[in-house]
Amino acid sequence: MILDAKACIESRTALRPTIGVVLGSGLGAFADELAARLEIPYSEIPGWPASTAVGHAGKLILGKLGRLEVAVMAGRAHLYEGYSPAQATYGVRVLGSLGVRTLVLTNAAGGINPSLKRGGLVLISDHINMQGCNPLAGPNDDALGPRFPDMSEVYSRAFREKAKQVAARLGIQVAEGIYAAMLGPSYETPAEIRYLRTIGADLVGMSTVPEAIVASHMGIETLGISCVTNMAAGILPRKINHEEVLETGAMVRDTLVKFLKALLPSLAEAAG
Ligand code: HPA
Repeated sequence: MILDAKACIESRTALRPTIGVVLGSGLGAFADELAARLEIPYSEIPGWPASTAVGHAGKLILGKLGRLEVAVMAGRAHLYEGYSPAQATYGVRVLGSLGVRTLVLTNAAGGINPSLKRGGLVLISDHINMQGCNPLAGPNDDALGPRFPDMSEVYSRAFREKAKQVAARLGIQVAEGIYAAMLGPSYETPAEIRYLRTIGADLVGMSTVPEAIVASHMGIETLGISCVTNMAAGILPRKINHEEVLETGAMVRDTLVKFLKALLPSLAEAAG
């Protein structure tokens, strides 16, 4: 199936992307920056799960950023939508088959660490998988990666350093933190957030981790960027709603676009 998707995409464009970007809830604007753009709705790609979440466009965009050939996923499949771990990571597997060796995963996340601010950007330094499943469970394809892959640097240290340099140059503040992935779709309880804080999480969300595991398995070097769309449950004396999450995404959209535009060329340079 992955090879059918690859053949389908390659038959529609001469572009051969080496960098992939996954855009999270409300963060879809970056794709508009690409030149010589081809947009392919997920529904036209064999095996690709449709994205049902509000704020997710559901298309693959290929294009150029300067000389770089880039593949952007605007919208992803989440486990909370009922997709299997294999479906939730299908897009990243396809990007890998297209030749993507560098990946930027973005997401909307709740801030657990009280030093984080709503609207802030955070480089993911590591994750805690609380989703109760692993996308690598089941038969292993040895051609893609090892049975028991190391996960000690899922989020490239070199990329984080590059990202900090680029952010400083642009005057964009970035923090760094550990992302805990929950299944969702309900937001967490305050007790769950206290527990996540105790085990070392700075951020909480419902995506990214399956994709990052699969990318690491394939040897794709990855940067993760969370946009803090709200403070997590119980951190502030107020309720969380999806509108707030989308609203904050819209607030930081321009900053994130500016950041990604400057970042991608320097990640391509740093990729090793
Ligand atoms: N919890 C889980 N996922 C999220 C949150 C949150 O508070 N905000 C955005 N995605």
